[in-house]
Amino acid sequence: MDRRKFINLSSLGAAGFTLQGFIPTSLNGLSTTITPIVVATWDAGLAANKAAWEVLGSGGKALDAVEKGVMVTEDEMNCCVGLNGNPDRDGFVTLDASIMDHEFNCGSVAFLERIKHPISVARKVMEKTPHVMLVGQGAQQFAIEQGFKLENGELSKDAKNSYQNWLKNSEYKPVINIERKNATTQLDASKMAPHRLSNGEWNHDTIGMIAMDSMGNLSGSCTTSGAGFKMRGRVGDSPVIGAGLYVDNEVGAVVATGQGEDVIRVAGSSAVVEQMRQGKTPTEACKIVIERIRRIKKEKAKDIQVCFIAINKKGEYGGYSLHKGFNYAVHTPQGNTLHEATFLD
Ligand code: GLY
Repeated sequence: MDRRKFINLSSLGAAGFTLQGFIPTSLNGLSTTITPIVVATWDAGLAANKAAWEVLGSGGKALDAVEKGVMVTEDEMNCCVGLNGNPDRDGFVTLDASIMDHEFNCGSVAFLERIKHPISVARKVMEKTPHVMLVGQGAQQFAIEQGFKLENGELSKDAKNSYQNWLKNSEYKPVINIERKNATTQLDASKMAPHRLSNGEWNHDTIGMIAMDSMGNLSGSCTTSGAGFKMRGRVGDSPVIGAGLYVDNEVGAVVATGQGEDVIRVAGSSAVVEQMRQGKTPTEACKIVIERIRRIKKEKAKDIQVCFIAINKKGEYGGYSLHKGFNYAVHTPQGNTLHEATFLD
Protein backbone atom coordinates (compact mmCIF):
# COMPACT_ATOMS: atom_id res chain seq x y z
CA MET A 1 0.00 0.00 0.00
CA ASP A 2 1.18 3.50 -0.72
CA ARG A 3 1.62 6.33 1.70
CA ARG A 4 -0.13 9.23 0.02
CA LYS A 5 0.52 12.07 2.38
CA PHE A 6 3.81 13.83 2.65
CA ILE A 7 4.93 16.74 4.77
CA ASN A 8 7.27 19.51 3.73
CA LEU A 9 8.77 22.41 5.67
CA SER A 10 6.68 25.53 5.17
CA SER A 11 9.83 27.67 5.03
CA LEU A 12 10.28 26.52 1.46
CA GLY A 13 7.00 28.25 0.54
CA ALA A 14 3.60 26.80 -0.16
CA ALA A 15 3.84 27.27 -3.91
CA GLY A 16 6.88 25.02 -3.95
CA PHE A 17 4.79 22.12 -2.76
CA THR A 18 1.99 22.31 -5.25
CA LEU A 19 2.18 19.01 -7.10
CA GLN A 20 0.07 18.72 -10.25
CA GLY A 21 -2.31 21.33 -8.92
CA PHE A 22 -2.71 19.84 -5.44
CA ILE A 23 -3.38 22.27 -2.67
CA PRO A 24 -0.95 22.59 0.24
CA THR A 25 -2.57 23.07 3.62
CA SER A 26 -0.93 24.45 6.73
CA LEU A 27 -0.55 22.27 9.80
CA ASN A 28 1.34 23.48 12.88
CA GLY A 29 3.88 25.42 10.90
CA LEU A 30 4.29 22.63 8.40
CA SER A 31 2.96 22.72 4.91
CA THR A 32 1.16 19.47 4.15
CA THR A 33 0.31 18.32 0.69
CA ILE A 34 -2.30 15.63 0.47
CA THR A 35 -2.23 13.60 -2.68
CA PRO A 36 -5.68 12.80 -4.04
CA ILE A 37 -6.72 9.27 -4.87
CA VAL A 38 -9.80 7.68 -6.40
CA VAL A 39 -10.64 3.98 -6.37
CA ALA A 40 -13.53 2.38 -8.27
CA THR A 41 -14.86 -1.14 -8.67
CA TRP A 42 -14.34 -3.37 -11.69
CA ASP A 43 -12.87 -2.66 -15.14
CA ALA A 44 -15.46 0.05 -15.68
CA GLY A 45 -13.69 1.90 -12.88
CA LEU A 46 -10.88 2.90 -15.25
CA ALA A 47 -13.09 5.16 -17.38
CA ALA A 48 -14.97 6.35 -14.34
CA ASN A 49 -11.72 7.20 -12.54
CA LYS A 50 -10.56 9.21 -15.54
CA ALA A 51 -13.59 11.48 -15.24
CA ALA A 52 -13.21 11.68 -11.47
CA TRP A 53 -9.55 12.63 -11.87
CA GLU A 54 -10.47 15.63 -14.03
CA VAL A 55 -12.04 16.97 -10.82
CA LEU A 56 -9.48 15.75 -8.29
CA GLY A 57 -6.40 16.54 -10.34
CA SER A 58 -7.35 20.18 -10.57
CA GLY A 59 -7.95 20.52 -6.85
CA GLY A 60 -11.70 19.79 -6.94
CA LYS A 61 -13.80 18.17 -4.25
CA ALA A 62 -14.05 14.43 -3.72
CA LEU A 63 -17.84 14.73 -3.71
CA ASP A 64 -17.88 16.22 -7.21
CA ALA A 65 -15.36 13.63 -8.38
CA VAL A 66 -17.34 10.60 -7.21
CA GLU A 67 -20.51 11.93 -8.84
CA LYS A 68 -18.85 12.79 -12.17
CA GLY A 69 -16.94 9.53 -12.19
CA VAL A 70 -19.83 7.10 -11.91
CA MET A 71 -21.96 9.16 -14.30
CA VAL A 72 -19.64 7.88 -17.03
CA THR A 73 -20.61 4.31 -16.20
CA GLU A 74 -24.29 5.18 -15.96
CA ASP A 75 -24.01 6.40 -19.57
CA GLU A 76 -22.20 3.37 -20.97
CA MET A 77 -24.07 1.29 -23.52
CA ASN A 78 -22.13 -1.92 -22.96
CA CYS A 79 -22.36 -1.81 -19.18
CA CYS A 80 -25.24 -2.89 -17.02
CA VAL A 81 -25.15 0.10 -14.66
CA GLY A 82 -27.87 2.66 -15.42
CA LEU A 83 -30.75 2.48 -17.86
CA ASN A 84 -28.90 0.05 -20.15
CA GLY A 85 -28.95 -2.56 -17.39
CA ASN A 86 -30.98 -5.73 -17.17
CA PRO A 87 -34.64 -5.30 -16.26
CA ASP A 88 -36.55 -6.82 -13.37
CA ARG A 89 -38.69 -9.90 -13.98
CA ASP A 90 -41.56 -7.68 -15.18
CA GLY A 91 -39.34 -6.07 -17.83
CA PHE A 92 -38.56 -2.72 -16.18
CA VAL A 93 -35.10 -1.33 -15.38
CA THR A 94 -35.06 -0.02 -11.82
CA LEU A 95 -32.08 1.86 -10.44
CA ASP A 96 -30.48 2.33 -7.01
CA ALA A 97 -27.77 4.84 -6.10
CA SER A 98 -26.19 6.57 -3.12
CA ILE A 99 -23.67 9.27 -2.37
CA MET A 100 -21.97 10.39 0.86
CA ASP A 101 -19.61 13.24 1.68
CA HIS A 102 -17.03 14.01 4.38
CA GLU A 103 -19.56 15.51 6.81
CA PHE A 104 -21.94 12.54 7.06
CA ASN A 105 -24.25 14.13 4.51
CA CYS A 106 -25.77 11.41 2.39
CA GLY A 107 -28.54 10.80 -0.09
CA SER A 108 -29.91 7.88 -2.01
CA VAL A 109 -32.59 6.73 -4.41
CA ALA A 110 -34.00 3.26 -4.87
CA PHE A 111 -36.40 1.57 -7.28
CA LEU A 112 -36.08 4.61 -9.54
CA GLU A 113 -37.27 4.24 -13.14
CA ARG A 114 -36.61 6.13 -16.39
CA ILE A 115 -34.05 8.59 -15.02
CA LYS A 116 -30.61 8.49 -16.63
CA HIS A 117 -28.40 9.56 -13.74
CA PRO A 118 -29.65 8.19 -10.41
CA ILE A 119 -26.39 9.25 -8.74
CA SER A 120 -27.22 12.89 -9.43
CA VAL A 121 -30.74 12.43 -8.09
CA ALA A 122 -29.20 10.90 -4.95
CA ARG A 123 -27.02 13.98 -4.59
CA LYS A 124 -30.09 16.21 -4.92
CA VAL A 125 -31.82 14.18 -2.21
CA MET A 126 -28.77 14.85 -0.02
CA GLU A 127 -28.58 18.55 -0.79
CA LYS A 128 -32.19 19.63 -1.32
CA THR A 129 -34.29 17.56 1.04
CA PRO A 130 -34.41 16.85 4.77
CA HIS A 131 -34.33 13.12 3.92
CA VAL A 132 -31.68 10.54 3.12
CA MET A 133 -33.62 8.22 0.81
CA LEU A 134 -36.40 8.50 -1.75
CA VAL A 135 -37.83 5.49 -3.56
CA GLY A 136 -39.98 4.54 -6.53
CA GLN A 137 -42.51 6.99 -7.87
CA GLY A 138 -41.67 9.52 -5.19
CA ALA A 139 -38.03 9.49 -6.23
CA GLN A 140 -39.01 9.85 -9.88
CA GLN A 141 -41.39 12.73 -9.10
CA PHE A 142 -38.64 14.46 -7.14
CA ALA A 143 -36.17 13.95 -10.01
CA ILE A 144 -38.56 15.50 -12.52
CA GLU A 145 -39.19 18.43 -10.18
CA GLN A 146 -35.42 18.90 -10.04
CA GLY A 147 -35.23 19.11 -13.83
CA PHE A 148 -34.21 15.56 -14.73
CA LYS A 149 -35.62 14.28 -18.02
CA LEU A 150 -38.04 11.35 -17.95
CA GLU A 151 -36.63 8.84 -20.45
CA ASN A 152 -38.87 6.60 -22.56
CA GLY A 153 -38.29 3.46 -20.51
CA GLU A 154 -37.37 1.25 -23.47
CA LEU A 155 -34.87 -1.50 -22.80
CA SER A 156 -31.50 -1.35 -24.55
CA LYS A 157 -30.98 -3.87 -27.36
CA ASP A 158 -28.74 -6.08 -25.19
CA ALA A 159 -31.12 -5.93 -22.25
CA LYS A 160 -34.09 -6.76 -24.50
CA ASN A 161 -32.25 -9.83 -25.83
CA SER A 162 -31.24 -10.93 -22.35
CA TYR A 163 -34.77 -10.49 -21.06
CA GLN A 164 -36.35 -12.40 -23.96
CA ASN A 165 -33.89 -15.18 -23.35
CA TRP A 166 -34.43 -15.14 -19.62
CA LEU A 167 -38.21 -15.34 -20.05
CA LYS A 168 -37.87 -18.79 -21.60
CA ASN A 169 -37.20 -20.31 -18.20
CA SER A 170 -37.68 -17.39 -15.79
CA GLU A 171 -35.06 -18.77 -13.45
CA TYR A 172 -32.63 -16.91 -11.18
CA LYS A 173 -28.98 -17.31 -10.42
CA PRO A 174 -26.33 -14.86 -9.26
CA VAL A 175 -23.57 -14.44 -11.82
CA ILE A 176 -20.27 -14.19 -10.03
CA ASN A 177 -18.16 -11.29 -11.39
CA ILE A 178 -20.80 -10.30 -13.96
CA GLU A 179 -19.59 -6.70 -13.60
CA ARG A 180 -16.26 -7.46 -15.27
CA LYS A 181 -16.08 -6.35 -18.88
CA ASN A 182 -15.58 -9.88 -20.13
CA ALA A 183 -18.78 -10.84 -18.36
CA THR A 184 -20.90 -7.76 -18.98
CA THR A 185 -20.34 -7.91 -22.70
CA GLN A 186 -21.69 -11.43 -22.69
CA LEU A 187 -25.24 -10.27 -22.85
CA ASP A 188 -26.25 -12.04 -26.02
CA ALA A 189 -28.67 -14.87 -25.55
CA SER A 190 -26.26 -17.76 -26.03
CA LYS A 191 -23.77 -16.50 -23.46
CA MET A 192 -26.43 -15.56 -20.95
CA ALA A 193 -27.75 -19.12 -20.91
CA PRO A 194 -25.32 -20.47 -18.28
CA HIS A 195 -26.19 -17.51 -16.09
CA ARG A 196 -29.82 -18.55 -15.69
CA LEU A 197 -30.30 -21.23 -13.09
CA SER A 198 -31.95 -21.79 -9.72
CA ASN A 199 -34.72 -19.76 -8.04
CA GLY A 200 -34.31 -16.88 -5.68
CA GLU A 201 -30.87 -15.59 -6.64
CA TRP A 202 -29.89 -12.81 -9.02
CA ASN A 203 -27.40 -11.13 -11.28
CA HIS A 204 -26.11 -7.70 -10.26
CA ASP A 205 -24.35 -4.78 -11.87
CA THR A 206 -22.75 -2.02 -9.87
CA ILE A 207 -20.06 0.59 -9.83
CA GLY A 208 -18.78 1.97 -6.55
CA MET A 209 -16.26 4.78 -6.18
CA ILE A 210 -14.41 6.28 -3.20
CA ALA A 211 -12.08 9.26 -3.28
CA MET A 212 -9.90 11.56 -1.21
CA ASP A 213 -9.32 15.10 -2.46
CA SER A 214 -6.38 17.44 -1.96
CA MET A 215 -8.00 18.81 1.20
CA GLY A 216 -7.95 15.30 2.66
CA ASN A 217 -11.73 14.94 2.50
CA LEU A 218 -13.34 11.63 1.62
CA SER A 219 -16.51 10.91 -0.37
CA GLY A 220 -18.12 7.92 -2.02
CA SER A 221 -20.76 6.96 -4.57
CA CYS A 222 -22.47 3.80 -5.71
CA THR A 223 -24.91 3.21 -8.58
CA THR A 224 -26.52 0.10 -10.01
CA SER A 225 -29.32 -1.40 -12.01
CA GLY A 226 -29.31 -4.05 -9.30
CA ALA A 227 -29.83 -7.73 -9.73
CA GLY A 228 -30.89 -8.66 -13.25
CA PHE A 229 -34.39 -10.23 -13.42
CA LYS A 230 -34.99 -9.45 -9.75
CA MET A 231 -38.45 -9.41 -8.20
CA ARG A 232 -40.23 -6.16 -8.89
CA GLY A 233 -39.52 -3.77 -6.04
CA ARG A 234 -36.27 -5.47 -4.99
CA VAL A 235 -33.71 -3.03 -3.61
CA GLY A 236 -30.09 -4.03 -3.04
CA ASP A 237 -27.32 -2.70 -0.84
CA SER A 238 -26.18 0.15 -3.09
CA PRO A 239 -28.67 2.79 -1.87
CA VAL A 240 -28.50 1.63 1.77
CA ILE A 241 -26.08 3.90 3.60
CA GLY A 242 -23.87 1.73 5.81
CA ALA A 243 -24.35 -1.31 3.60
CA GLY A 244 -23.36 -0.45 0.01
CA LEU A 245 -21.51 2.72 0.95
CA TYR A 246 -20.12 4.40 4.03
CA VAL A 247 -17.82 7.35 4.64
CA ASP A 248 -16.42 8.50 7.98
CA ASN A 249 -14.01 11.32 7.27
CA GLU A 250 -12.01 10.58 10.42
CA VAL A 251 -11.42 6.99 9.35
CA GLY A 252 -12.05 6.06 5.73
CA ALA A 253 -14.47 5.34 2.91
CA VAL A 254 -15.81 1.99 1.75
CA VAL A 255 -18.05 0.78 -1.06
CA ALA A 256 -19.39 -2.68 -1.84
CA THR A 257 -20.30 -4.63 -4.96
CA GLY A 258 -21.75 -8.06 -5.40
CA GLN A 259 -24.72 -9.78 -3.85
CA GLY A 260 -26.51 -6.91 -2.14
CA GLU A 261 -28.62 -8.97 0.22
CA ASP A 262 -25.48 -10.36 1.84
CA VAL A 263 -23.88 -6.94 2.15
CA ILE A 264 -27.00 -5.56 3.86
CA ARG A 265 -27.04 -8.48 6.33
CA VAL A 266 -23.73 -7.37 7.86
CA ALA A 267 -24.05 -3.60 7.30
CA GLY A 268 -20.98 -4.26 5.17
CA SER A 269 -19.40 -0.91 4.37
CA SER A 270 -19.96 0.43 7.87
CA ALA A 271 -18.46 -2.77 9.29
CA VAL A 272 -15.33 -2.29 7.16
CA VAL A 273 -15.00 1.33 8.35
CA GLU A 274 -15.25 0.14 11.96
CA GLN A 275 -12.40 -2.33 11.37
CA MET A 276 -10.24 0.48 9.98
CA ARG A 277 -11.14 2.56 13.04
CA GLN A 278 -9.64 -0.27 15.14
CA GLY A 279 -6.39 0.09 13.19
CA LYS A 280 -6.77 -2.47 10.43
CA THR A 281 -5.45 -1.61 6.97
CA PRO A 282 -8.07 -1.22 4.22
CA THR A 283 -7.37 -4.71 2.86
CA GLU A 284 -7.39 -6.34 6.31
CA ALA A 285 -10.66 -4.56 7.17
CA CYS A 286 -12.34 -5.71 3.95
CA LYS A 287 -11.11 -9.27 4.52
CA ILE A 288 -12.55 -9.48 8.04
CA VAL A 289 -16.03 -8.55 6.80
CA ILE A 290 -15.80 -10.91 3.81
CA GLU A 291 -14.89 -13.70 6.25
CA ARG A 292 -17.94 -12.79 8.33
CA ILE A 293 -20.17 -13.12 5.24
CA ARG A 294 -18.57 -16.45 4.43
CA ARG A 295 -19.31 -17.74 7.96
CA ILE A 296 -22.92 -16.61 7.72
CA LYS A 297 -23.55 -18.05 4.25
CA LYS A 298 -21.80 -21.37 4.94
CA GLU A 299 -21.90 -23.61 1.86
CA LYS A 300 -24.11 -21.08 0.00
CA ALA A 301 -21.11 -18.74 -0.13
CA LYS A 302 -19.91 -20.57 -3.22
CA ASP A 303 -22.87 -19.22 -5.23
CA ILE A 304 -22.34 -15.53 -4.55
CA GLN A 305 -19.68 -12.90 -4.98
CA VAL A 306 -19.22 -10.05 -2.48
CA CYS A 307 -16.44 -7.48 -2.72
CA PHE A 308 -15.33 -4.32 -0.90
CA ILE A 309 -12.90 -1.53 -1.70
CA ALA A 310 -11.67 0.86 0.99
CA ILE A 311 -9.40 3.84 1.50
CA ASN A 312 -8.26 5.26 4.82
CA LYS A 313 -7.31 8.77 5.91
CA LYS A 314 -3.68 8.13 5.04
CA GLY A 315 -4.70 7.48 1.44
CA GLU A 316 -3.92 3.78 1.72
CA TYR A 317 -6.28 1.62 -0.31
CA GLY A 318 -7.28 -2.00 -0.63
CA GLY A 319 -9.92 -4.41 -1.82
CA TYR A 320 -10.99 -7.92 -1.03
CA SER A 321 -13.54 -10.37 -2.39
CA LEU A 322 -15.14 -13.65 -1.48
CA HIS A 323 -14.05 -15.31 -4.73
CA LYS A 324 -11.43 -14.79 -7.38
CA GLY A 325 -12.22 -12.39 -10.20
CA PHE A 326 -12.88 -9.03 -8.55
CA ASN A 327 -10.80 -6.13 -9.81
CA TYR A 328 -10.71 -2.42 -9.08
CA ALA A 329 -9.15 0.68 -10.62
CA VAL A 330 -6.92 3.09 -8.70
CA HIS A 331 -6.07 6.59 -9.94
CA THR A 332 -3.23 8.51 -8.28
CA PRO A 333 -0.85 11.12 -9.74
CA GLN A 334 1.17 8.12 -10.94
CA GLY A 335 -1.61 6.94 -13.22
CA ASN A 336 -4.80 4.90 -13.50
CA THR A 337 -4.27 1.18 -13.00
CA LEU A 338 -6.36 -1.94 -12.64
CA HIS A 339 -5.69 -4.22 -9.65
CA GLU A 340 -6.76 -7.80 -9.04
CA ALA A 341 -8.21 -8.06 -5.55
CA THR A 342 -7.05 -10.67 -3.13
CA PHE A 343 -9.82 -13.14 -2.25
CA LEU A 344 -10.86 -15.70 0.30
CA ASP A 345 -11.17 -18.76 -1.94
N1 GLY B 1 -24.71 -4.77 -5.14
C1 GLY B 1 -25.75 -4.38 -5.94
C2 GLY B 1 -26.99 -5.11 -5.73
O1 GLY B 1 -27.00 -6.20 -5.19
O2 GLY B 1 -28.03 -4.59 -6.11
